[in-house]
Amino acid sequence: MLEGRKVLLIIAGGISAYKSLELIRLLRKSGAAVATVLTAAGSEFVTSLTLSALSGEKVHTELFDLTSESEMGHIELSRSADLVVVAPATADLMAKCVHGLANDLASTLLLATDKPVLMAPAMNVRMWEHAATQRNINTLRTDGTLFVGPNEGDMACGEFGPGRMAEPPEILAAIESALGERPLAGRHVLVTSGPTHEPIDPVRYLANRSSGRQGTAIADALFGLGAEVTFVTGPASAARPRGCRVVEVETATEMLAAVERSLPVDVAIFAAAVADWHVASSRDSKIKKDSSGRPPMLALTENPDILATIALRTENRPALVVGFAAETDEVIANATAKRLRKGCDWLFANDVRPETGIMGGPENSVTLITEAGAEAWPRMSKAETAERIARRVAQHFA
Ligand code: C5P
Repeated sequence: MLEGRKVLLIIAGGISAYKSLELIRLLRKSGAAVATVLTAAGSEFVTSLTLSALSGEKVHTELFDLTSESEMGHIELSRSADLVVVAPATADLMAKCVHGLANDLASTLLLATDKPVLMAPAMNVRMWEHAATQRNINTLRTDGTLFVGPNEGDMACGEFGPGRMAEPPEILAAIESALGERPLAGRHVLVTSGPTHEPIDPVRYLANRSSGRQGTAIADALFGLGAEVTFVTGPASAARPRGCRVVEVETATEMLAAVERSLPVDVAIFAAAVADWHVASSRDSKIKKDSSGRPPMLALTENPDILATIALRTENRPALVVGFAAETDEVIANATAKRLRKGCDWLFANDVRPETGIMGGPENSVTLITEAGAEAWPRMSKAETAERIARRVAQHFA
């Protein structure tokens, strides 16, 4: 329920603007007050009269409107709501936001607001798949914009594919989640994720099978609870998390440097599968096959242990340091010893024998090891595991 919450709904120009009328009805039914902004293009699809009738409030359309400015200035309007929702969010309006343009009321409000923004994109499938749109979406995500949809299906233009605006009930659910509790607001959390690549020469490297899925899910869940998240990732196949400051690195040495640059933080969660070794004398040119048929010898040197380095430091040590332990035998005993050796507060141990399907798979089954002992969590999706980890972190600071 959204009793007492205020939503500022921006309706841009797209055929799916008609669905936003139903969204207003659902929002009001769940108790929210809805102020609406209609762009010039949006008014080609729905009218101010319909919007004001449904929302029960004046519709805002002009950036320079003397009556509106004397009642409520556009800066105040951008901050008077708990959440700004853009539905439909057109390719054009999103591109404007990426560049910080503010030449009409909608784009000015989006630049001036200090509230979370949720966008429901809607456009033709080719426009959605265009590299420029995808680039813009990534930038907006990194800037903290939340998204719902688009969905795949038949489109008004006769084509089929992703680009249909999410349905009003889905947008309502995303609004409810965006307006949920934010117990980690004001906390800065660092998450490491993914594998590291350790070069052998310019074309070859040592790596591991980590997908980065669990780390991404943890960062997403922490951001969902209001944390400011710095996400330091090796070359992982998983999508990057929303709303986080993403730092891309390749090697363990680069990862440690990026982690140290991110301090101080309140919490550090080390979910990366860092390579234990790097090649001692990696070459600047590609190693050639030898005519003698002898393979090259690769001498390995140990990588820095990032978790232990941060957990055992005295200056700028995060208040909560969390590690992971991927084990194949004696999981609890090994992980308990590892927690003490590495100096971290919590350690999540998981059994990564191939038959568990956990490494690189969609599910996880972890045991949380703390000073108080071991606590086995049921097997669940990596997203649910992440949600539970984030809530546990929030509880720790409650
Ligand atoms: O020793 P092991 O690799 O099992 O430890 C796993 C934990 O330590 C994980 O949290 C991982 O992110 C972290 N780690 C690290 N730097 C390393 C090796 C592991 O931060 N070089």
